[in-house]
Amino acid sequence: MSTPSTPSDGTAAAWSGRFSEPVSEIVKRYTASIPFDYRLAEFDIQGSLAHAAMLHHVGVLSKDDLAAIQRGMAELQTEIRAGQLAWSLDKEDVHLNIEAALTAKIGDAGKRLHTGRSRNDQVATDIRLYLRDAIDRILAGLKACQTSLVDLAEQHTDTVMPGFTHLQVAQPVTFGHHLMAYFEMLARDVERMADCHGRVNRLPLGAAALAGTSFPIDRAFVARELGFAGICENSLDAVSDRDFAIEFTAAAALVMTHLSRLSEELILWMSPRVGFIDLADRFCTGSSIMPQKKNPDVPELVRGKTGRVNGHLVALLTLMKGQPLAYNKDNQEDKEPLFDTVDTLTDTLAIYADMLRGVTVKPEAMRAAVMQGFATATDLADYLVKKGVPFRDAHEVVARAVRAADTSGRDLADLALAELQAFSPLITDDVYDVLTLEGSLAARDHLGGTAPAQVRAAIARARKRIQAGSV
Ligand code: ARG
Repeated sequence: MSTPSTPSDGTAAAWSGRFSEPVSEIVKRYTASIPFDYRLAEFDIQGSLAHAAMLHHVGVLSKDDLAAIQRGMAELQTEIRAGQLAWSLDKEDVHLNIEAALTAKIGDAGKRLHTGRSRNDQVATDIRLYLRDAIDRILAGLKACQTSLVDLAEQHTDTVMPGFTHLQVAQPVTFGHHLMAYFEMLARDVERMADCHGRVNRLPLGAAALAGTSFPIDRAFVARELGFAGICENSLDAVSDRDFAIEFTAAAALVMTHLSRLSEELILWMSPRVGFIDLADRFCTGSSIMPQKKNPDVPELVRGKTGRVNGHLVALLTLMKGQPLAYNKDNQEDKEPLFDTVDTLTDTLAIYADMLRGVTVKPEAMRAAVMQGFATATDLADYLVKKGVPFRDAHEVVARAVRAADTSGRDLADLALAELQAFSPLITDDVYDVLTLEGSLAARDHLGGTAPAQVRAAIARARKRIQAGSV
């Protein structure tokens, strides 16, 4: 049996003293997280500096040791940023890699840093710092997308298009109104992200391995140093739960779902069969065999990547569900899904804000489509109701008129007054005001309606909401 390597040769695991043989290469690879958690380095250093400052503040760490740690960490940070630190699998994870590199620089002070803490509360702190920062960036990305939506909507407050139910022409709406529906979805996404931020922004450090520590730590001091708004109140909970990562991923899955729906619409609208819009060339690709093709690859990928984010949500929920208190190594598996969710969402938002600026609208095609679907049939029914016909009877009258128009290949507005009067004698020549698309739009003149004046007002409110950050 091989003897475990001794700490002095620099390759021994931090916990090797307890063991009679080293782990095999495959176990080392299997258990290590450094290939992915090196991304936490900046946050790990931040957390360590706050911990060291606190240890000194409560009299556990000398002034000289603190100064050495601060100096060593500053050097390390520069090296890490320059890509000069060689991450080692032997050191398992980002925490042990940084501690070893620090100790190599400053000696015993580096070994004192871990007093009163554990990797369990350390990693929980790092992830929260990482996610807090990520949410800030995601909130900015959401805001940029909302701004693009509002900008585009503003140009199309009067552009009529078919509103659909069951993917069949239902009633006329304005393109601006349609876009503002997505603004509202993203506004709720902003609320969810901001709400989640509040629960992420609490300090787990001080929980140590699981039960707290026998050192006289000052958790409020650390929370202040790191800008946390609160402190995790139970040490077992602090090191073990990852619900904040799960709820973030759920919120991210909803953002992706919203953008996936919009993507589906962009793809449909761009199809030559529909031809409502065109996307700027920089978001499309051609076909290697069919020269005529211009494929909406970016929206298709957004739709596709929504699947992977949804998958990450299920992965994290499943990761958590069977774990007894407190920390278990299972939790190391939280990082890749979380990182990938953040990366996917961040890129998607950045690309989307720009893609919306590259949408060319074809109002004639939208108008032609809405003319084909008897989109003002409800307006005719409402017209009859206003003349005293019960709605159900009005519905029946209009259904018969639609059938007649359909048989002769015309729209309702193309029927002569005498023809319309055959369905109801209450119809007079003011009927054409409601049968026109503009009349239909203008009639829906209430909060949340599609009348151009309402859409303009909604856009004005939306701009204020974006500015106030209260979306
Ligand atoms: N790399 C570990 C993780 O990501 C750090 C915590 C390790 N703690 C432990 N007791 N093995 O969760």
